[in-house]
Amino acid sequence: MKSGETELPEYSSSDEDFVDPWHVASKSATGIDYDKLITKFGSQKIDDNLITKIENLTGKRAHHLLRRGVFFSMRDMHGILTLYEQKQPFYLYTGRGPSSEAMHLGHLIPFIFTKWLQETFDVPLVIQLTDDEKFIWNDITVEEANRYAHENAKDIIALGFDINKTFIFSDIEYISSCPEFYMNICKVQKLVTYSQVKGIFGFDVSDSIGKISFPAIQAAPSFSSSFPRLFKSKKDIPCLIPCAIDQDPYFRMTRDVAQKLGGVKPAVIHSTFVPALQGVQTKMSASDPNASIFLTDTDEEIRIKDYACGVLAREQLQEILIKLLQKIIGKHRQNRALVTKEMVKQYMTPRNLECSIVT
Ligand code: TRP
Repeated sequence: MKSGETELPEYSSSDEDFVDPWHVASKSATGIDYDKLITKFGSQKIDDNLITKIENLTGKRAHHLLRRGVFFSMRDMHGILTLYEQKQPFYLYTGRGPSSEAMHLGHLIPFIFTKWLQETFDVPLVIQLTDDEKFIWNDITVEEANRYAHENAKDIIALGFDINKTFIFSDIEYISSCPEFYMNICKVQKLVTYSQVKGIFGFDVSDSIGKISFPAIQAAPSFSSSFPRLFKSKKDIPCLIPCAIDQDPYFRMTRDVAQKLGGVKPAVIHSTFVPALQGVQTKMSASDPNASIFLTDTDEEIRIKDYACGVLAREQLQEILIKLLQKIIGKHRQNRALVTKEMVKQYMTPRNLECSIVT
């Protein structure tokens, strides 16, 4: 790309499918057209070649979320694989907006896959809990948002991330304890104009300045210099971000400013959405209890919701799905009950993260 050019596509409200970090809507009965989204966002499709390359390099069968196309799009994955091949370090970054006490099935997908990436590539992982974002956007107090961050951390820890390789942080807490993180936020804020965020996210003049400046806070963890206590003195470790594709606007913005602030462009790997129980035209959402299976739902609630929605017409299939969900969520409920406050504190304390290739 020539300097001065930008990789940012413009926000448009006239397209049929609508995907941004806050809304997902398709007018089509078959749901979002993900191939079109790849073209619109300017990312690349994950093809069999890439999957085979991952399998050959790691000596492991690719995760079923990859084989079945749930993770379907990426930016710069080949660069990450080259690093791995050359035994150079990289780290993983993902996150969660703690908008409610309970997480749902859709939220699990990126985390399940991230855990597989962490185990397969043996790399450190940082998980951002954007309590500031959810306070700014939603009708909750800042204290509630921070409390939800800790509650959600329990769900994330229950998935079994390696404590020696994982750092979970609340924005509100980490910003006030790590100057280097805030310095990177300031750098991004200085480099991105209002007109750019308006183009990427569709903000307008009536949006609060909190919303307008927040994308810099989601961008900053893409730079390893935001974590001086985790990565020893290494400031330029490349980053790979697994996320649902609605988060891509943040990382298009991040990639656009990365080099200007002396960082490395983060690589990204995108998933599709888990559809709402009522149908494929939107995704599961924490604000609609009937659209989503929550990780706190009981076996009975799972059964009732599944039947009420009737998305799966065949009764036999429905029975299989209900049993499967009861098993997965039942196990999750058990694991979550074992997560103590002390464990949450450990995961949320900045400390040196282990990684065989970060020396
Ligand atoms: N904004 C995301 C949400 O609302 C949370 C988030 C922060 C995130 N950083 C991330 C998600 C990085 C994926 C990758 O859920």
